Amino acid sequence: MQQPDYADPSELEAVLARLRRLPPLVVPQEVDRLRSLLAEAAAGRRFLLQGGDCAEQFKDCTPESIEGKLRVLLQMSVALTHGGRKPVVRVGRIAGQFAKPRSKPTETVGGRDLPSYRGDLINGLGADEVVRRPDPGRMLEAYFHASATLNHLRALTAGGFADLHHPERWELPGGTGQVPEYRRTLDHVRESLDFLEALGGVQRDVLERIDFFTSHEALLLPYEEALTRWVDDASAYYNLGAHTLWVGERTRQLDGAHIEYLRGLRNPIGVKVGPSASPEHLLALLEHLDPGREPGRITLISRFGAAKIQAALPPLLKAVQDTGRPVLWSCDPMHGNGIESAGGLKTRDFGAILSELRQAFEIHRTHGSHLGGVHIELTGEAVTECTGGSEGLSEADLAKSYETGCDPRLNGTQSLEMAFLIAEMMRG
Ligand code: PEP
Ligand code: CO
Repeated sequence: MQQPDYADPSELEAVLARLRRLPPLVVPQEVDRLRSLLAEAAAGRRFLLQGGDCAEQFKDCTPESIEGKLRVLLQMSVALTHGGRKPVVRVGRIAGQFAKPRSKPTETVGGRDLPSYRGDLINGLGADEVVRRPDPGRMLEAYFHASATLNHLRALTAGGFADLHHPERWELPGGTGQVPEYRRTLDHVRESLDFLEALGGVQRDVLERIDFFTSHEALLLPYEEALTRWVDDASAYYNLGAHTLWVGERTRQLDGAHIEYLRGLRNPIGVKVGPSASPEHLLALLEHLDPGREPGRITLISRFGAAKIQAALPPLLKAVQDTGRPVLWSCDPMHGNGIESAGGLKTRDFGAILSELRQAFEIHRTHGSHLGGVHIELTGEAVTECTGGSEGLSEADLAKSYETGCDPRLNGTQSLEMAFLIAEMMRG
């Protein structure tokens, strides 16, 4: 499902042959480490924060944009760790989130019917027939943009950018620092650090470096396969284009190619679970993807929408609980809450996003389970794509700075506010 038709098979093969020879973006040890951290999150000892663009675009591979996303994720993880009292596992939708599943093969742009934009990995966003044609050369471009992004992320996280002693380095130009609760949290964190260091209880370097992992949707199978490598030490295949991959709501057919591909990987796998998933389907999927019931292997990412989660989640949750499987449950409060504004822009309301999250925490609690993570579309930039939040963005404000190539994202301020609200929910 969702695979483009490339006009020239030999051009496609030439690109794939090159990709197969290029170095991996991540190494198996990192993938294994993430799996063990996710296993701890599944056991309730950590919390997963997964977030980033709906669709990364090549043109946004800039230091400002990459730093902005890292900053907002770091700020959020401070809020979550401090308020929620759990260490956070940070996973970006970044350095490879270039392919989009679409519900319809065409879309109307400026009054014209064009082939749908499927992400920079596949075709271009421009309103032009030629640009919208699937181009295999984009896979190489995606690889190099992903590696440039990841290189910058690695340099920043290893080079003191993430140092908890210097959170001012994460100040966003748009001023998320203005969220008053964030200021107070930083003061508390600083006091606690001073105290611990005075006691000699923490090593400085532990606070100066952090783990940061990458993820994207495993959608375009030729690309994913070309970045899949046999690892002798583990006697297993790893996708070394990202630490973890997820399968989307539109491509998780039991007998589909995406599940067949993903089940052969050693990476931790995310599975989007929306209103169309029955308990039988979900259990069969889990059996396919995780026959060994390995902790950390599966993250189930529910995405029902605020209006549907109350009815849809409990039967799935109970079915999985009955199997005793050690899955990590996460909540994507974005993809079930899309609406169209009066002005015709795709948007989501902060209140609906919050409501789905609240309900998810509560449903898990009522059923003796726990929500162990969130999956959010966000950016560090001061965009106006989602309504609501303390800035009070209305539908009329959306046109001011609507930049997304696909779905509407929370901006920096909205993301940080959401993190404080999530931290409260984590405490119960
Ligand atoms: C996404 O995460 O961008 C996405 C398309 O999600 P879903 O498959 O849940 O609709
Ligand atoms: Co999206």
